[in-house]
Amino acid sequence: MPAISASAPGKAILFGEHAVVYGQPAIAVPVKQVKATAIIRPLIRERSGFVRIQAEQINLDSALSDLPEQNPIALAVRSTLSELNINQPPAFHLRISSTIPLGGGLGSGAAISVAVIRAVSSFLGSSLEAEQVSDLTFEVEKLYHGNPSGLDNTVVAFEKPIYFVKGDPIEFAHLKESFTLVIADTGKSTPTRDTVAAVRSAWKADKQNFDRLFTEIGELSHRARKILEGGNPVDLGPLMDENHSRLQEMGVSSAELDQLVMAAKQEGALGAKLSGGGRGGNIIALVRDEDGERIEATLKNAGAKGTVVTRVQ
Ligand code: MEV
Repeated sequence: MPAISASAPGKAILFGEHAVVYGQPAIAVPVKQVKATAIIRPLIRERSGFVRIQAEQINLDSALSDLPEQNPIALAVRSTLSELNINQPPAFHLRISSTIPLGGGLGSGAAISVAVIRAVSSFLGSSLEAEQVSDLTFEVEKLYHGNPSGLDNTVVAFEKPIYFVKGDPIEFAHLKESFTLVIADTGKSTPTRDTVAAVRSAWKADKQNFDRLFTEIGELSHRARKILEGGNPVDLGPLMDENHSRLQEMGVSSAELDQLVMAAKQEGALGAKLSGGGRGGNIIALVRDEDGERIEATLKNAGAKGTVVTRVQ
């Protein structure tokens, strides 16, 4: 059996993080410049059923049987085996790596799960549909997020821009024109589970205000979809700015995020916002194509620990 390699992209939420957990629409796109990769090699000398999992970036090197049920990578492997009705797979070594900053709002957890599920299923001679991969990943996302909307697993497994409403059938956003985003990492991170929980407590304490914020954000996603599908993506800029203000009001921005958003805007970005769970992680800035490199340099000077320029199409 030859070695198998599978990968999955990162993602950026253009509109609607957090509000999406409360039933509002969100728009997210895959970011293919960063990815998680899973490589599987058969272990011909080991007994069948033995699986070794290695992920250097998180200091993991363990037999699958030694990992607890709550370990996300172990869950991704186990649920793929059970989806394929395989109890005793031929022994294998699974090695995982990722260029997506961990906990930075770019879907690192979902991408690792999708890469693992794709690699394990193809090692075992089956190729799962994107929807099956997304559903299995959703189960793992519950460990990372507690109460995930399903947005991250869907955009990462389908690798297409999506307009997402929790619980609704998947709708792809058909972009009429491509556009450029600069993504910049604060280098700090807060687990999504924590920011989602913080928003939930704040919502419980002030439902009227938070319901208003969620509805306003949902309206921005709705308007953004029309712009994306009608052409003229520069018009997304002001909506991104508004979305960022609402996220500030929700208490999920941070001084570092605001500083990067401001630096991008001062350098001529058309719009900028935090992307993902917030309180650290990444911002995204919509830029004219010719401004991408200059704004990227500005963001590095303003303290960004990593940057990516990506063409969304
Ligand atoms: C995390 O990438 C996005 C959130 O909206 C959580 C979720 O959708 O599950 C913050």
